[in-house]
Amino acid sequence: MKIAVVTGTTAGLGMALARGLIAAGYRVLGVSRSAVPADCPWEGVSCDLTEPGFGTAVIVDWLAALPSDSVEDALLILNAGTADPIGAVEALLPEELQRHVTLNLTAPMALTGAFLKATADWPAERRILAISSGASRRATPYWSAYTASKSGLDGFVRAVNAEYAGRTSGRASAVALAPGVIDTAMQAGIRAKDFPTVDRYRGLKERGELWTPDEAAGRILAYLSKPGFGSVELDDVRNYA
Ligand SMILES: NC(=O)c1ccc[n+]([C@@H]2O[C@H](COP(=O)([O-])OP(=O)(O)OC[C@H]3O[C@@H](n4cnc5c(N)ncnc54)[C@H](OP(=O)(O)O)[C@@H]3O)[C@@H](O)[C@H]2O)c1
Repeated sequence: MKIAVVTGTTAGLGMALARGLIAAGYRVLGVSRSAVPADCPWEGVSCDLTEPGFGTAVIVDWLAALPSDSVEDALLILNAGTADPIGAVEALLPEELQRHVTLNLTAPMALTGAFLKATADWPAERRILAISSGASRRATPYWSAYTASKSGLDGFVRAVNAEYAGRTSGRASAVALAPGVIDTAMQAGIRAKDFPTVDRYRGLKERGELWTPDEAAGRILAYLSKPGFGSVELDDVRNYA
């Protein structure tokens, strides 16, 4: 049995990932704020990951109800995220920054810890895929919040791998993966903003160079099915054909 917990599955990349995982035979829990349609093919829970607890109780309860001995592949995909606020450093509001860092960094850290604890004695291969961004590795003016939170996510992944290196039991590995530039609500929001490099994003859309969510998800699922997950801990799906 293969299982996956995915955050942010009501739209964009997360929805396409959940759809692809179901097609690949995974049992999937999706965690997002919006209500889940009755005919949704995965198990969905409505939860705001910026609220206290950061959704940890939801995933721990779901994992506890699974037949852990028959799970051979346990996956946590930390996908929910936001680019907002985009703006000059001196214009960013403290409460916006707190919400941003909570969703992009604090919640993924807390969910990873909860996932590793809840599955500690499972025989499964345990993998954590943090959806990062090219912006974490390239400083962009007016994107200081996003660059900082995604760089923090990259650093967290490296620290988790350092902590689990060399274990012979209870093994786990993590990758922070940049997913390409994808035609989602997040990209539409970016194109609508005013910042020095916005024309790059408007041009990608105008020239039809954005990946669809299904295309990006397909490449990420192919990445997950390759051997050697975790050998490159900060990776970019665009490095692979
Ligand atoms: N799109 C790109 O080009 C691109 C590029 C690089 C990296 N990324 C990364 O890829 C990931 C997905 O991006 P996307 O473009 O698919 O974004 P999106 O279209 O805005 O979708 C975001 C998802 O996260 C959920 N979400 C947002 N706030 C939440 C909260 N407080 N609690 C729980 N769920 C929440 C949303 O659902 P609800 O509104 O229902 O909560 C939605 O399902 C993000 O981490 C992003 O940084 C995207």
